[in-house]
Amino acid sequence: MKALILVGGFGTRLRPLTLTLPKPLVEFGNQPMIYHQVEALAAAGVTDIVLAVNYRPEIMTAALNKYEEQFNVKITFSVESEPLGTAGPLKLAEKILGKDNSPFFVLNSDVICEYPFKKLLDFHKSHGEEGTIVVTKVEEPSKYGVIVHKPNHPSRIDRFVEKPVEFVGNRINAGIYILNPSVLKRIELRPTSIEQETFPAIVKDGGLHSFDLEGFWMDVGQPKDFLSGTCLYLSSLNKRNPKALVPASEPYVFGGNVMVHPTAKIGKNCRIGPNVVLGPNVVVGDGVRIQRSVILENAKVKDHAWVKSTICGWNSSIGRWARLENVTVLGDDVSIGDEVYVNGGSVLPHKSIKQNVETPSIIM
Ligand code: GDD
Ligand code: MG
Repeated sequence: MKALILVGGFGTRLRPLTLTLPKPLVEFGNQPMIYHQVEALAAAGVTDIVLAVNYRPEIMTAALNKYEEQFNVKITFSVESEPLGTAGPLKLAEKILGKDNSPFFVLNSDVICEYPFKKLLDFHKSHGEEGTIVVTKVEEPSKYGVIVHKPNHPSRIDRFVEKPVEFVGNRINAGIYILNPSVLKRIELRPTSIEQETFPAIVKDGGLHSFDLEGFWMDVGQPKDFLSGTCLYLSSLNKRNPKALVPASEPYVFGGNVMVHPTAKIGKNCRIGPNVVLGPNVVVGDGVRIQRSVILENAKVKDHAWVKSTICGWNSSIGRWARLENVTVLGDDVSIGDEVYVNGGSVLPHKSIKQNVETPSIIM
């Protein structure tokens, strides 16, 4: 089977992390986001994966080559010379996606869930039409693509509205599709949007269906959602694969759902959790309190720091008695001084912060 992952886009909403790494390589649950997708695709029997890239392809190529061996898949980089949007990349990869008559998966690179590829394939085959979109329910649908069903039909889509300004429904496009190769004929090789152009065209011909997602879902393309997605992912792991988490009996674990890389070091009298990920070579001092946060590779959290709802970037350090909260994001190699308070700060790479940041702001 074949799949295409849309890994382009500049990832601006996930800055300052994406100033250092392209969004699909930012670690989510201690693995690059794209790792989770390649792993799930391979498990569903996909052998041919196209990565549609336009932003910094050289970093992506190096990182992804090793997955070919690990998951026994062929990964092809389809590099755009100008951003082709969310549909143009499918046309650019037509040779691979259209090489046989079987359907192919398409994924946005920033969506995290228990990817239902096998069930999706079965459902798609059962209705036999052009495309199937995975849908999930959200409370705030305006930042997504919303689908509306045909009256009296459980799955056939009547309307697809991208980022609606008025409420049309709360069942949204989860950014995961399975499409027949015939869809490629509908797309021109130019910058074009699958949501704005291709889906409405298929809907008009009555060939687009929805498939309801089970379990959690999150687009983790912005810091607030990255943190919420981390909480959902950790609680899902707690049910599916608790061995990936630190046992709740560990004295420093508080409230559960704590993932600690084997190379991370934790000092005495810490209280960590719920919902914390500590990356490779992270060093946590004594008496540290961390909750609802992600600490990326090589970062240091010094003695008695208090960290909540924070993403601490690679190689950064958080000073003694510092207090970080309210969706604070530190880029690569940031230093937060001792006793400094940061409230919702977004700090660009290589900055050193010595004064309090009292109100949410970007520090450059
Ligand atoms: N190759 C390539 N080229 N990829 C691109 C380009 C491009 O020019 N532009 C965007 N992408 C990729 C992004 O990297 C991402 O993986 C995916 O296309 C979707 O782009 P986003 O920028 O993340 O879109 P969104 O989050 O606002 O909305 C999309 O996702 C929602 C679900 O999270 C839409 O598909 C919505 O309908 C959907 O509900
Ligand atoms: Mg997105």
